[in-house]
Amino acid sequence: MTNSIAIVTGCSSGIGLATAKMLAQNDFTVYACSRDPSAAINLQNLITHENLTNIHPTQLNVDNDESVKNTIKQIIENEEKLDVLVNNAGYGVIGKIEDLPVNEYSKQFQTDLFGPLRMIRAVLPQMKKQNSGRIINISSIAGQIGFPLTSPYICSKFALEGLSESLRHELYETNIITTIIEPGVVKTKFNQNMKFPQEYSSDENKAEAIKLKEQCEKIFDRTEISGIDVANVVLESLTTPNPRIRYQVGIEADELLKKKKQLSDEDFEGIVHKFFQDIMNIP
Ligand SMILES: NC(=O)c1ccc[n+]([C@@H]2O[C@H](COP(=O)([O-])OP(=O)(O)OC[C@H]3O[C@@H](n4cnc5c(N)ncnc54)[C@H](OP(=O)(O)O)[C@@H]3O)[C@@H](O)[C@H]2O)c1
Repeated sequence: MTNSIAIVTGCSSGIGLATAKMLAQNDFTVYACSRDPSAAINLQNLITHENLTNIHPTQLNVDNDESVKNTIKQIIENEEKLDVLVNNAGYGVIGKIEDLPVNEYSKQFQTDLFGPLRMIRAVLPQMKKQNSGRIINISSIAGQIGFPLTSPYICSKFALEGLSESLRHELYETNIITTIIEPGVVKTKFNQNMKFPQEYSSDENKAEAIKLKEQCEKIFDRTEISGIDVANVVLESLTTPNPRIRYQVGIEADELLKKKKQLSDEDFEGIVHKFFQDIMNIP
């Protein structure tokens, strides 16, 4: 993959930033996308202080058709090829279903599902022309396991996994490979960037949403998994001729998803329910 051209979305922080750095350090030319590159200070610092001149900060909003189309067109014109797309941009919402209007689900899908879909549709013609390419979709354990109080995020990641499976079938006879990455908890700005309902149907629901955010803060503080760990897995999957369909990152992601395969739906639901209660009771 030396001298390969990669596009990574959501590079202003966290997993996207770490992935851009990791790929650049391994000789990829990286178009590191964020909504406002001038505000992506950590990305700018990386380029200046680590002399990673093969990172190109790029303005792109995955929610916007024109932004995606124009940016990808420009990159293909510059490079005349395109090897890797990492669909990473995303965010989460905390709240109960009765407190989240359908509009919140639409917004979540715009970024976490239609964002990757727009990106995939924009890069596919070039990848098909080359008959080569890698598409990495950053999903989550939330792409296979439903948790309470985060249903827009869960729905979008389940749908991203479905999209990835369909895409793999459609590209089965080609050299374009789609890979799904499923991290557990990763120390990034994700929790800080969580969105909340505008209004709550009860004080109990509000208290529960606020409590979950506080409890998540403790988990995010304690985790030893960082964006670099996810970036390592991205790199590993890209540098393997026959990557797996799915890669989990972090022990809890690995263990929970193994249990999902081993147990009945009913038994597994009990495990997830207890897992959530334990989170809400972390001292
Ligand atoms: N952290 C975790 O525990 C965890 C676990 C599993 C999966 N993930 C997934 O990992 C991915 C990256 O999240 P992170 O943990 O690195 O969180 P993060 O630090 O909050 O980074 C999210 C990135 O997505 C970008 N973004 C959000 N909406 C966007 C949009 N409409 N268009 C373009 N960029 C947008 C943000 O850019 P701006 O600066 O423009 O806002 C930011 O760069 C997400 O897909 C998330 O679901 C995270």
